[in-house]
Amino acid sequence: MIVVASSNGSIGIEAAIEILRQGGTAVAAVEAGIRLVEANPEDNSVGYNGYPNILGEVELDASIMNGRTLESGAVGALKGYLHAITLARQVMERLPHVLLVGEGASRFAAEMGHPPQPEMMLPDTRTVWADRLRPELGQAGLTDDDIAHIASRADLARWVELATDPERTKGTVNFIAQDKAGNICTGVSTSGWAWKYPGRLGDSPIIGAGNYADNRYGAAACTGMGEMAIRASTAHSLVFYLKMGLSLAEACERAMIDLRDLGGRFISVMNLVAIDKDGNHAGFSSVDGRTYIYQTPDMPECEELARTVVPIPPRWG
Ligand code: GLY
Repeated sequence: MIVVASSNGSIGIEAAIEILRQGGTAVAAVEAGIRLVEANPEDNSVGYNGYPNILGEVELDASIMNGRTLESGAVGALKGYLHAITLARQVMERLPHVLLVGEGASRFAAEMGHPPQPEMMLPDTRTVWADRLRPELGQAGLTDDDIAHIASRADLARWVELATDPERTKGTVNFIAQDKAGNICTGVSTSGWAWKYPGRLGDSPIIGAGNYADNRYGAAACTGMGEMAIRASTAHSLVFYLKMGLSLAEACERAMIDLRDLGGRFISVMNLVAIDKDGNHAGFSSVDGRTYIYQTPDMPECEELARTVVPIPPRWG
């Protein structure tokens, strides 16, 4: 039994491992761990108080995958509800679908009895949003009044490219759990790329991109620039490399090289965590200094480990 998470999962990993200690399932452990991250206002990349899109609206993405059955559920661009991971689990367990987005996701949250959360950001975070837009957009000719009314503009694409910052504006939480029965579950939740175009989905709600689990081989999840993981199908590729007989370290490295080999623009930071079917774990990143955490039932607290670096030279604009 084990729980592996991105380091911002530290607030939830004890709850997740306790569920496994009590004989609970990997799916329940992943959901419980991620819910605590979603509720943490200090994390601006997940759930409550996450950084918003360019219009100042928080839009959440999440997914969950059951490695025993390969059933999965996901929600994207969810507005007005906090626990995207629980809703993703409900998509998996209550609907014949895998992915709900936008208004349909909010409607399903209401139907499932989730409490509405009309204000998803603390006032300070709203100030960060406005302050971030002002210099870039002001320099390009928008007044404070233009920025206040940015929602009514017909030329958002131009401003999104100016307002986004590849180094500062992404983050996500990953949880992978393996329970007593050997079943693996992966969950991912995020508020996505800050100042994004409304409706933008990253890799987190895309099964095979930011999240994949298969009991027979292992599981993987990503944080970082989701567009890259979508283009390379990173989480599925990594598990596929395990299926083809590569070791966990080799599979992670191969998945990172696939990302490095992407052409075109908009290449930035990517990180992944993974386990194999035996519960061996690994964390990789394209940059130095990134860590991940893991905990087994006998450990009183999680351990934080450095991620192995496979450099990916950034390319932007
Ligand atoms: N990896 C999270 C995102 O790109 O939205």
